Amino acid sequence: MTLCLGLESTAHTFSAGVVDDSGNILSVVNDTYVPQEGGLHPLKTSLHHVECFQDVIRKALETAKTPLESIELISFSQGPGLGPCLRVGCTVARALHVFLDVPVVGVNHCVAHIEIGRLACKVEDPLTLYVSGGNTIVSAFDCGRYQIFGETLDIALGNMLDTFAREAGLQHPGGPKIEALARQSSNYIDLPYTVKGMDLALTGLLTSATHALKTHPLADVAFSMQETAFSMVAEVTERALAHTEKQNVLLTGGVAANTRLRDMIRSISEDHGAAFHAVPKELAGDNGAMIAWTGLLQFKQKGGLALEDTGVIPKWRLDQVPIPWRT
Ligand code: ATP
Ligand code: FE2
Repeated sequence: MTLCLGLESTAHTFSAGVVDDSGNILSVVNDTYVPQEGGLHPLKTSLHHVECFQDVIRKALETAKTPLESIELISFSQGPGLGPCLRVGCTVARALHVFLDVPVVGVNHCVAHIEIGRLACKVEDPLTLYVSGGNTIVSAFDCGRYQIFGETLDIALGNMLDTFAREAGLQHPGGPKIEALARQSSNYIDLPYTVKGMDLALTGLLTSATHALKTHPLADVAFSMQETAFSMVAEVTERALAHTEKQNVLLTGGVAANTRLRDMIRSISEDHGAAFHAVPKELAGDNGAMIAWTGLLQFKQKGGLALEDTGVIPKWRLDQVPIPWRT
């Protein structure tokens, strides 16, 4: 049995997870940076990671009842993400690789969100809707890669929710607060709905919703924004489902924690005779377990990285990554 320590540091969260090569998640420990005001400042966020990484890793090992010396593989998020934040995880991974004399692998964060969903939901070949702070992607496995069928042309769904929340005076992250507010209303305000072919755009919706705050109650705007944005991603997902005829749909990424979005995607899945799966809430957001598990899959096929290949990749698209562990 191989035990892998996974390190996640692409954005707001420093997380460590211990996973074995049978897919048992032995621990996940997170420390999330919450800015006092404004959005995520890359440098300040990276300083948070520098301060907490030792504690997070120690707690992850303690929870897994695993001494550091039993770790046989180090995996880290190599990209995409905020450069300064990525470099913290990368530096810690390199240090552990040298200190423990065990292999190191760098994984793509988007691939990891999909792989943890496949593992946790026990689903082999889903159409995946991956929605988070930085990504809004409908994808499915084809020709050795996670091909992208549709995506946002501007900002990500989670980013839109967080930015709107900030305009409304709510603290980061805004997604869960918008969800709670939306539950208090059923007054739909007309807001721009922008689907272009298989892609969608969210800045027009964000601008209009922010303007609407001047004339409408916050709960009504939150409700209407959720309904509009979630319908847009549901439309694109439904079209990809009709085209690919996949039997399963997987919802993953931080915004997958949203109950209303889950209900909508379940509904379009069932309309097409596909089974719906959502990643468990505790694994929806950024976490070290998804990095550890993806690292194990990757290591088995491709082995470890040479130290000179462990540099961070802040811009790294999902569909650029070969997926040799799937056929
Ligand atoms: P990426 O995977 O693109 O790097 P990320 O690093 O921002 O994204 P995640 O933890 O995967 O990280 O997602 C965070 C996002 O999820 C935030 O935008 C947050 O507001 C959103 N989110 C979390 N819970 C909910 C919820 N209940 N409803 C809506 N959005 C949510
Ligand atoms: Fe993420």
